[in-house]
Amino acid sequence: MRWWHIAPVLALELELFPEDAWSAGMFWSELAEAHPGGTRHYTVALTPDGAVVGYAGLMAVAGEGDVQTIAVDGRHQGTGLGAALLADLVREAARRGCADLLLEVRVDNTRAQRLYERFGFEPVGIRRGYYQPANVDALVMRLDLAAASAAGAAPEDLDEPADHPRPDVKKDTPHG
Ligand SMILES: CC(C)(COP(=O)(O)OP(=O)(O)OC[C@H]1O[C@@H](n2cnc3c(N)ncnc32)[C@H](O)[C@@H]1OP(=O)(O)O)[C@@H](O)C(=O)NCCC(=O)NCCS
Repeated sequence: MRWWHIAPVLALELELFPEDAWSAGMFWSELAEAHPGGTRHYTVALTPDGAVVGYAGLMAVAGEGDVQTIAVDGRHQGTGLGAALLADLVREAARRGCADLLLEVRVDNTRAQRLYERFGFEPVGIRRGYYQPANVDALVMRLDLAAASAAGAAPEDLDEPADHPRPDVKKDTPHG
């Protein structure tokens, strides 16, 4: 993701997270850390004509990764983009030597939870009232990257389950 993607990402953010959308300033500060050697990795999914239809971000600090955000334009959901974006974050976390990849997801967001489960994330706890102002709990999920790598998976193998073909979308990464 580059700075010029922030405006279209914000438009999607407002549509997809109407109760707790990130501000432009939050994306700017995340991208400020998405340089080589920085703690963040952000990626966008682009249509062939360059429209942003998905985005995702990773924080990696002290051997632990966190999925900061992941979202796909409603008109493009169910086509494998969410899986492609998550696979990108999982690969990057493994490449950076993270032992774990953690995330929070609303307890009522079963669709996202299904996606995470397909990747091997497991529930490890609940954060009460994590999402405000709606006061909705978060389910904390964890993917054990150390176990995956001990089992012999190379970073490039820590990929989405091969049950769907890759969508026809160009991806752009800050270090790409
Ligand atoms: C969660 C989210 C990112 C998933 O993105 P997505 O692009 O729809 O994800 P995928 O297409 O990879 O997978 C979703 C479903 O489509 C199905 N699918 C994927 N590719 C497919 C294809 N080519 N043909 C048919 N179905 C397909 C998957 O099996 C999956 O089915 P399931 O929901 O029954 O498990 C998306 O729903 C979203 O942005 N939601 C709003 C924001 C949000 O909640 N973000 C998560 C915050 S924690």
